[in-house]
Amino acid sequence: MKRFFYVGITLSAIVFGSLAATAQVQKGKTRLLLTKQLMGGLVQPNCKAIGDGLKEEPADDKAWAALATKAALLNEASYILMADGRCPDGDWAGATTKLREGSEAVYKKIEAKDHEGAQAAFKAMTESCAACHQAHKKK
Ligand code: HEC
Repeated sequence: MKRFFYVGITLSAIVFGSLAATAQVQKGKTRLLLTKQLMGGLVQPNCKAIGDGLKEEPADDKAWAALATKAALLNEASYILMADGRCPDGDWAGATTKLREGSEAVYKKIEAKDHEGAQAAFKAMTESCAACHQAHKKK
């Protein structure tokens, strides 16, 4: 009887363990936001807007300020990616660090109104997207 009990405990630990592993990539443990929603609603629109906005030299202070807002929001997204048990492994954590440091570099170049510097920093930052997607986004 006792032996069945232990086998049962071990089996349920394996089942719950693997459920938690899939849940962590697509969602955190307690909060609502799906990774898909985080990407589609916050990460992708701000990333695209920065890329588009830096194609030409931003026209005025207002245009630079709008880009700074977007870089700061991308930086914030890097904290959400690491929160609530969403991070499954070192590939995820490494790509998120790249996104955090990359968006900070973009932000600083935008603050300095350095157009070419901001373009280069933006290009480097987008390597973080590919790095995480290669490891964790289903094709
Ligand atoms: C640390 C991991 C990670 C990083 C960094 C990351 N993504 Fe994602 N992204 C994912 C995962 C995981 C999915 C798949 C989510 C799902 O379908 O459950 C995804 C999906 C997406 C999608 C598809 C959303 C949809 O509606 O299906 C887009 C667009 C996207 N990411 C854009 C970006 C961009 C742009 C960047 C860089 C600025 C980025 N991502 C950085 C993990 C990441």
